[in-house]
Amino acid sequence: MKRLLLLSVLAFSLLGYAQSLPIYLDESKPMEARINDALSRMTLEEKVAMCHAQSKFSSRGVPSLGIPDNWMSDGPHGIRAEVKWDEWNQAGWTNDSCMAFPALTRLAASWNPEMSLLYGKSIGAEARYRNKNVLLGPGVNIYRTPLNGRNFEYLGEDPYLSSRMVIPYIQGVQSNGVAACVKHFALNNQEVDRHEVNVTVSDRALYEIYLPAFKAAVTEGHAWAIMGSYNKYKNQWCCQNQYTLQDILRKEWNFDGVVVSDWGGVNNTMEAATRGLDMEFGTWTNGLTEGYSNAYDNYFLANSFLNLLRTNKLNEDIVNQKVRNILRLCFRTTMNSHRPFGEFASKAHGDAARKIAEDGIVLLQNRGDVLPFNPDKVKKVAVIGENAIRMMTVGGGSSSLKVRYEISPLQGISQRLSGKAEVIYARGYKGELKGGQDGINTDAGLVENRSESELAAEAVKVAKEADAVIFIGGLNKNDHQDCEGVDRESYGLPYGQDALISQLAKVNKNLAVVIISGNAVAMPWVKEVPSIVESWYLGSEAGNAIAATLFGDVNPSGKLPFTFPVRLEDNCANFYGPEAYPGVNKEEKYAEDIFVGYRWNEIKKITPLFAFGHGLSYTKFKYGKLTADHSTMNSDGSITFSIDITNIGSRTGSEVVQLYISDLKCSLPRPVKELKAFDKVSLNPGETKTVHFTINKDALSFFDAAKHAWVAEPGMFKAHAAAASDDVRSSVEFQLK
Ligand code: BGC
Repeated sequence: MKRLLLLSVLAFSLLGYAQSLPIYLDESKPMEARINDALSRMTLEEKVAMCHAQSKFSSRGVPSLGIPDNWMSDGPHGIRAEVKWDEWNQAGWTNDSCMAFPALTRLAASWNPEMSLLYGKSIGAEARYRNKNVLLGPGVNIYRTPLNGRNFEYLGEDPYLSSRMVIPYIQGVQSNGVAACVKHFALNNQEVDRHEVNVTVSDRALYEIYLPAFKAAVTEGHAWAIMGSYNKYKNQWCCQNQYTLQDILRKEWNFDGVVVSDWGGVNNTMEAATRGLDMEFGTWTNGLTEGYSNAYDNYFLANSFLNLLRTNKLNEDIVNQKVRNILRLCFRTTMNSHRPFGEFASKAHGDAARKIAEDGIVLLQNRGDVLPFNPDKVKKVAVIGENAIRMMTVGGGSSSLKVRYEISPLQGISQRLSGKAEVIYARGYKGELKGGQDGINTDAGLVENRSESELAAEAVKVAKEADAVIFIGGLNKNDHQDCEGVDRESYGLPYGQDALISQLAKVNKNLAVVIISGNAVAMPWVKEVPSIVESWYLGSEAGNAIAATLFGDVNPSGKLPFTFPVRLEDNCANFYGPEAYPGVNKEEKYAEDIFVGYRWNEIKKITPLFAFGHGLSYTKFKYGKLTADHSTMNSDGSITFSIDITNIGSRTGSEVVQLYISDLKCSLPRPVKELKAFDKVSLNPGETKTVHFTINKDALSFFDAAKHAWVAEPGMFKAHAAAASDDVRSSVEFQLK
């Protein structure tokens, strides 16, 4: 009886509590009702305070309502170290060293959405553990020129591949109650003049090439945040752009998340207030590099915005709309009591980083099956090149990380061969010292007083005496290499690496050249060298993943997410000269239109160095005949293609089977073919699997600018099953009725 009484008292008090809970705190109530309730309790000052930064990476919540501040972090490869409240300098924390995941180019090279999900889940958990509710990434700007210093942060040249890869990343991040902030929207395809350049592009290229990954992120990935870019489109800065933010993002795609500015991307109050931006970050009253304390009151969306609202020059609906979007962010993240607690720099995240790293290494060339090296047969291995010892998680701009650990290629190879073979290291060349970034000095161990010729001579001598030679070079994260804020100055490898590689090839035929980069590079020595590996920036587990691949523990299965042209002028954007890249007087015209990447090579019949989609394996795959389940497709129907893939080699391996579509007759020029589906299949030796691809009218459509609509013209099409864009194995025709 006593117990019953106690229980009823408890039940009544809980009921009472629930009844007294304000609507905005009641998670059983619909989101929009909670937002309206919170909004009705806020002062104008509180609303405006939410719309701009209060520190380098945070903006105010609503303290009077118990709604926490919003905390952002770069992104997109790991959680950036803490900086001081009002400075870019490191805060000097000792518990903020993260796990570094591979660069996004590397993720794209896996062509494996499962890796993308694992990536998103893991990095999202790191953000959550560090109490960030917005991750500034992923980046999905299209790879338009190999000179763009920031390509390593993006997902390659193809709108379909980048769209499929971005969705699981976002879902993974957001499953932690952390918003993914997709960046940089839109047309931020270079770093030169990034704050001023005005891009002119046709509607067709905009919709077919540059927008699809953003659209997929919003409409299928359901991203909770997006970041406007620095550049201009139609002469409006993209953080305050009527066309991209209002007409496309909000109206066409029904985006209900927050639009965040890039750091320092806002340029005036009225436009920022009225053209779709919600939150302003990184503005300096004095440019991006110097700042004064309390600059935050001088932000465009701070006091001057407040004054316009107070004096009724702007209607309160304008700020309410922004605050609604920001509150939605809060309710989805910090105010969600069910979100997990996160996990940081754990063993599980190290394993995930390694798995992702190993799934995307691209074996570009392997003449005479030089790779994999047999760890039981080689007795003396020469490792040559600065990238074997240089830290690659530091530098490159805002994606620079402070990591718990980074296994260098030399460490990874030495550990793999420990007790089996002698590993001799020679640097071979030297890049410039940069001093590191964000307080992390990377120069230790890189100081070198010998001349270039002395270094090269030592490397050649070491190579001559070894059973196997591994050259590890490429680009690095210094300015004018793979680095934010500046583009590369040339397409070739820096620091005399080309000459050195040629010399090494002369003295030892058992040579593997491993390129670490986020961009294509020229390879004038391609015919002299038997094996070439594109390993990308790999994060904390770099050395382990490289060693496992070179010594055959892992069978490479990555494919290129962008074309490697032979010469720079073979690339679409660089073909047309400065008007098309990097622009003249801050005006740039995307003259190649829709013909970007392999679309350009194919329409112009230019043979690439290595094609989009190319990547070899230590085994071989046989493709059967591509068949279609119907010979015609109705415009509201679909069609399924099937093909048998057999592993005819002696090792287990994975193959990325690619499906391209050609429109055989069209009223407008179209690419020779376009990627419309892919699948990565793992096969044991002798095993056969049937791969199925189902497509619908979307895969046949082009963007008709006059109608402002996607159109599929009835007629004949051809589907191609391919191992690379330049390696079609079987095709079949079908008709659209
Ligand atoms: C970059 C963004 C980054 C932001 C914050 C900007 O300079 O363009 O990608 O998220 O800084 O670090």
